[in-house]
Amino acid sequence: MEQRQHGSPQESRPRVVLGVSGGIAAYKACELLRRLTESGHDTQVVPTASALRFVGEATFSALSGRPVSTDVWESVHEVPHVRIGQSADLVVVAPATADILAKAAHGLADDLLTNTLLTARCPVVFAPAMHTEMWEHPATQENVATLRRRGCLVIEPAVGRLTGADTGKGRFPEPEAVFEFCRGVLARGTAAERTDLTGRHVVVSAGGTREPLDPVRFLGNRSSGKQGFALARTAAARGARVTLVAANSELPGPAGVDVVRVGTAAQLREAVLEAAADADAVVMAAAVADFRPAAYAEGKIKKRKDAEPEPLELVRNPDILAELSTDRARAGQIVVGFAAETDDVLANGRAKLARKRCDLLVVNEVGEGKTFGAEENEAVVLGADGSETAVPYGPKDVLSDKVWDLVALRFP
Ligand SMILES: Cc1cc2nc3c(=O)[nH]c(=O)nc-3n(C[C@H](O)[C@H](O)[C@H](O)COP(=O)(O)O)c2cc1C
Repeated sequence: MEQRQHGSPQESRPRVVLGVSGGIAAYKACELLRRLTESGHDTQVVPTASALRFVGEATFSALSGRPVSTDVWESVHEVPHVRIGQSADLVVVAPATADILAKAAHGLADDLLTNTLLTARCPVVFAPAMHTEMWEHPATQENVATLRRRGCLVIEPAVGRLTGADTGKGRFPEPEAVFEFCRGVLARGTAAERTDLTGRHVVVSAGGTREPLDPVRFLGNRSSGKQGFALARTAAARGARVTLVAANSELPGPAGVDVVRVGTAAQLREAVLEAAADADAVVMAAAVADFRPAAYAEGKIKKRKDAEPEPLELVRNPDILAELSTDRARAGQIVVGFAAETDDVLANGRAKLARKRCDLLVVNEVGEGKTFGAEENEAVVLGADGSETAVPYGPKDVLSDKVWDLVALRFP
C-alpha cells in the first residue's frame, strides 16, 4: 500500500476511497474513478470480491495508479483495514449493492471495504443500484434509513433501464452526477453542517418558463437553470429529499434528486404546489413568466404580405411565489424567492419581499452577461426579519449553501 508523503503535492489532494461492490453497474465506477483522478483527487479503489467478477483489478489499478486489494490480509504491516478509512476525506461506495448496504448498516467487517466503512470518520456516500424489488424491500429500506440516521448520504437511485429488459427505480445515476455529488460533499465543512437537512423535504424550481404563442414560437427568458440545479444538488448533499421542478433546462438531473420537467408557468405552478404539500421549504429560483399570450394559435402564425403584425395581447400569469407565501401548505414551511433586478437592486428587492411575503429573497443583479448562464453569482439575501446577508461573487454552489444555511436557521 502506498503511504502519503509529507510535504508532497500528494498531501494536499483530497483523498477519496472509491468502494465498488458487485452490481452490474460496477463498470460505471470506472468512469467515476476517471473523473475523480482527472480532477485531482487522490483515489484509492477498494472493491469487493464480487465487484472484481464484473471489472478486473487491472482496470481499477491502472486508472487509479494504485494497487487494489479486497481483503485485510494483504500488506498487513501497513494495517490497511484501519489506515485507509482513517485517512480518507471521503468514502463513496458506487455502486452500492443491497448486500453492502446491509453489511454497513449492521457493522459487519469481513473484507477491506466493510472494515474501511467502520474506520472512516469522513463523509460516507452510498450510490445504490439494484433491481426495483431489491431496493423497495423493507430490509433494504430499513438499512438505508439506518445509514441515513447515522449521517451517511445515500443517493436515491435513478429510474430507468435496469440489468435486463426491465425498467424501474434502482438504476445507478450517471457517473457525472455522482461525481458532482461527491465534489459537493467534499466542499462542505463539519459533520453537523453536512447533514443538517436530513429528514427534510425541499422543493426547488429552476430554469425559465416558456409561454407558447403557436406551435413553433414562445415567450421565454434567459434562465439556464444553473442556480436552481445548484440549490437542488447542495440540498441533496446536505441530506435533504429534493424535488426539483425544472423548466426548460438542458442540464442533467443531479444525483439523488427527483426531477419534474415542465414547460409553462401553469405547469410549473401545478408541479410546485403538488410537491410543496409536504415540503419543509420551497425555493423559487425559476424565472417564471409574469405574462403569457392571451391566445394560442393552433397553426404557425403567418407573415402577412405588406401588413403590419397583429398586436400581441398578453394576460397575467398567477403569482406562484405570493401564493406559496400567503397560503402556506404546512405550518412552519419556509418560502424563498429570487429577484433578478437590473437597477435599484436592493430597493426593488425589499419592496418585492414585502409584497410577496416570503421568508427570504435572494436578490441579484442581472444583465450585461451577469448571472444568466454563468457559473458564478453574487447576491444579497434579504430576510423578512430585516436581516441582510451579502454573498460575494463566487460559484453558484456557494450561494446555494448560504441559502440553505439561512433556511435551516429558520426551521421551527
Ligand atoms: C449479473 C449479476 C448482477 C447483479 N447485479 C446486482 C445489482 O445491480 N445490485 C445488487 O445489489 N446486487 C446485484 N447482484 C448480486 C450481488 O452480486 C450479490 O448480492 C453479491 O453477494 C454482492 O456482493 P458485494 O456486496 O460484496 O459486492 C448481481 C449479481 C449478478 C450475478
